[in-house]
Amino acid sequence: MKQLNPILISGKEVLPLIEGGKGINGSDGRSSGAWAAENCVGTFSGVSPDCYDSLGNVIIEKFFKKARQERHEEMVEYAIKGGVAQAQVAHEVSGGNGRIHMNMLWELADSERILTGVLERAKGLIHGVTCGAGLPYHLGALASKFGVYYYPIISSARAFQILWKRAYANFKEFLGGVVYEDPWLAGGHNGLSNAEDPNQPQTPYLRLVELRKTLNSLGLNETPIILAGGIWSLKDWEDYIDNPEIGKIAFQFGTRPMITKESPISEAWKKVMLQVKKGDVILQKFSPTGFFSSAIKNTFLEKLIERKNGEIAFVTEQNPEFPHALKLSETKTVYIRIADVEKAERQIKAGLTEIKETPDNTVVFMTPEDWKQMKADRAACVGCLSQCQFSTWSKATGTTGRLPDPRSYCIHKTLYEVGHGGSVKDNLLFAGHQVYRFATDPLYRNGCIPSVKELIERIKNGE
Ligand SMILES: Cc1cc2nc3c(=O)[nH]c(=O)nc-3n(C[C@H](O)[C@H](O)[C@H](O)COP(=O)(O)O)c2cc1C
Ligand code: SF4
Repeated sequence: MKQLNPILISGKEVLPLIEGGKGINGSDGRSSGAWAAENCVGTFSGVSPDCYDSLGNVIIEKFFKKARQERHEEMVEYAIKGGVAQAQVAHEVSGGNGRIHMNMLWELADSERILTGVLERAKGLIHGVTCGAGLPYHLGALASKFGVYYYPIISSARAFQILWKRAYANFKEFLGGVVYEDPWLAGGHNGLSNAEDPNQPQTPYLRLVELRKTLNSLGLNETPIILAGGIWSLKDWEDYIDNPEIGKIAFQFGTRPMITKESPISEAWKKVMLQVKKGDVILQKFSPTGFFSSAIKNTFLEKLIERKNGEIAFVTEQNPEFPHALKLSETKTVYIRIADVEKAERQIKAGLTEIKETPDNTVVFMTPEDWKQMKADRAACVGCLSQCQFSTWSKATGTTGRLPDPRSYCIHKTLYEVGHGGSVKDNLLFAGHQVYRFATDPLYRNGCIPSVKELIERIKNGE
């Protein structure tokens, strides 16, 4: 295994190993601080991070206000307090070693406000900000204002070029690196563009070479590329190290650090991950953000897949192609193809008697209990996203103007629940496509859970 040499990240020579940020509560001050303590980089999540009461207990988010806009304000307040709290924990745990980064989901409503609030109050504790899910144009200006390095997360050279031309060229000094996240392999949201086929993965090598060429053409020869997505053992990536076609590189691990002693996720979640088999992680498009994402197939995801498979196209005016009447409610009847009649009847017979329209002139079928829960989830919306397909909340205009999508779900609710000990069957479990390797990697034999220190030692050896 080639030796890993330290590189300059966020103003300090550190090992080129990074814990990726994971919301909600998939990476926090404890885990990121532990990575930094090993002279690596730890990234705590800035998406609904935990804050603590005077006794050090986690304050579980509760929203008291009636109006959604007001609950949104409560959420922003929690997020700022939580971000500061996690930065403090990370700093203490790191002992001043390594680098601490904060991750922000750009599509979060008021992400700029949250980031500003945290950076203002946690001066000197956060060295870099990583930001993905969307094109974070303002990130360069915002981070530079605080003298903090910034790291856009992109999945193609083209995306970086757009960001550079429109915004980052003016904020070159604090561009710390570019995170290339493989859209076919990484856990969490995936940046697949419309031109890319989710079933036709492309090799990261060629895409990285293209990114390096782009960076060099912009005079960014020394800017490191941080490779994320599908990284388990560095032996598999030796060709990428000290490779002039790729240049300075660091490796970001998202899924693997989740099974460490310092990882904040529940024991039950770790247990599921230890048993996942190849093919159990599904790349799908149910997220209310509209992005693709990768998660473990469990009851939660199976239900969404089943609902999607039962989807039927309709028209509102009967015609020869759509002759069959389907009653949605006392006041609304739509028309479906003969070929879909059996599919509709089968679902109704199975108890999926609530038939709901999607924004795409289709209907899906669900049980009365699931429909009741969906209505409750929408009513409890705290406006976490800038635009939400599940509830139609839009931060800018109040509503997206589209129909709420019953093929989606409230991501805030499910990630918060599972991030705080909730069911691992009935919540979304984001994970990368290499998660099955926990089951065969000798480090985890007999359910063994390593410390971050032990994991980093293995990684350095290429294991
Ligand atoms: C549970 C989970 C949650 C994640 N949440 C976020 C997030 O909030 N923001 C983000 O930029 N990336 C997020 N990611 C992506 C990771 O930071 C990392 O880039 C990715 O997991 C790397 O791929 P890997 O899982 O194959 O190692 C998440 C990944 C996982 C597994
Ligand atoms: S319904 Fe949408 S915007 Fe509202 S809290 Fe849930 S995911 Fe966020």
